Amino acid sequence: MNAIGTDIDYAAKLLKADRLVAFATETVYGLGANATSQNAVASIFAAKNRPYFDPLIVHIAQKSQLDGLVRQIPAEYELLIEHFWPGPLTLLFQKSDAVADLVTSGLNTVAIRMPGHTLARELIRKSGLPIAAPSANLFGRISPTTAQHVADQLAGRVDYILDGGPCAVGVESTIVRLAEGRLEILRHGGVTKEQLAHVYSGEIVSVTTSACEETGEGAVAPGMLTSHYAPQTRLEIVQPDQIATIVQQTQGRFGILSASALPNELPVPKWCHLEVLSEAGDLVEMASHFFAALRRLDESSLEVIYATSFPDVGLGRALNDRLTRAAAKR
Ligand code: TXA
Ligand code: MG
Repeated sequence: MNAIGTDIDYAAKLLKADRLVAFATETVYGLGANATSQNAVASIFAAKNRPYFDPLIVHIAQKSQLDGLVRQIPAEYELLIEHFWPGPLTLLFQKSDAVADLVTSGLNTVAIRMPGHTLARELIRKSGLPIAAPSANLFGRISPTTAQHVADQLAGRVDYILDGGPCAVGVESTIVRLAEGRLEILRHGGVTKEQLAHVYSGEIVSVTTSACEETGEGAVAPGMLTSHYAPQTRLEIVQPDQIATIVQQTQGRFGILSASALPNELPVPKWCHLEVLSEAGDLVEMASHFFAALRRLDESSLEVIYATSFPDVGLGRALNDRLTRAAAKR
C-alpha cells in the first residue's frame, strides 16, 4: 500500500492496532496514534524525535468522548465548545486516568480539540479512539500543510498518510486554559483572540511564552520553545518598508517571504526567490499559505530569507508567533 492515500478504513484499522497514521486536519497535518496506549504514544515521540517533556493534543470526533478523558467540563467551556468545535481551538482540562501519562508529559491537564476537517473526524470516529497527534513534522521543524510535506519529513517513520488536501487554516490551533475565571491563551492559532472575545465574556489574556516556562507542576506549554517551526536557512524578520532597500542591496541568493504584495515598481532581481502570501493582504490567505511558502524558500538553496512581519491583529498574532520562533537562534 502506498504511504499516501485516502483509505479511511485502512487508516482507522492501523490506529486500532497502535500504529501511526498522519492525517489532514484544517490546521496542519497531525501524526496520530491511540491516546490510550502508552506504546502507541511512545512511537509518536520516536518518529518525530520529540522530547518527552512536550505534551500532545488529544483529538476527538464528538463531545461525548470527553467523558472518558477529563474529570469535568468547566461551565466556562460550554459556550466555547458550542461555538468553536469542531475547529481550531484546543482546551485544557483536568485529565482522567484513561489518558496515557506520556500524552501529557506527566502534567495533570490534558489538551483536547475536535478538528474541523471532516476527514479527520471520520477517521477518529471509525477508529473509536481518542487520537493523540502533534503536528506531523520532525521536532522543531516547519509544520506540514500537505500530505507530501509529511512524506518529505517522515517517510518510513509513519505507517500511512491520510490525504485530505492542503490545510485550509494553515496555522495550528489556539490553545487556551482557564485560570481563576480568566481565559489564558497559551498559543495563538486558528481561532483569534477577537473571535474568543465575542463568545467569552470574562477576561482573556495572552500568556504565550518566548521560552520554556517552568512551573511547580512542570512546563506550562513546553512546546512554546523559542526555536520552533524552523527552516534550515537563516531567517530574518524585517518591516515591510525595509524590503525596497533589501531588494536593491542584497547580492547573494536570497528569499523574500512577503505578507502582502510588494510595491508595483520594485524590480526584484532574478537571484531572489519571492513568495507573496496574499496579494490582497488577507490574513486568512496569508495563514493558509505560510508554512508551504516557508518550505519552498527553505528548499531553494538561499543564503538568507527575509520575512516581513504581520499586522498584530487576528490571525496575524499567530503568524508573528510562528515567524519569531522560526527566526530564533538555535
Ligand atoms: O492544530 C493543532 O493543534 C495541531 C493539529 C495536528 O491538531 N497539533 C499541534 O500539536 O500543533 P503540537 O504537538 O505540534 O503542539 C501541541 C502544543 C505543544 O506546544 C504542547 O506543549 C501543548 O500543545 N500542550 C499539549 N498539552 C498541554 C498541556 N497539558 N499543557 C500545556 N500545553 C500543552
Ligand atoms: Mg508542532
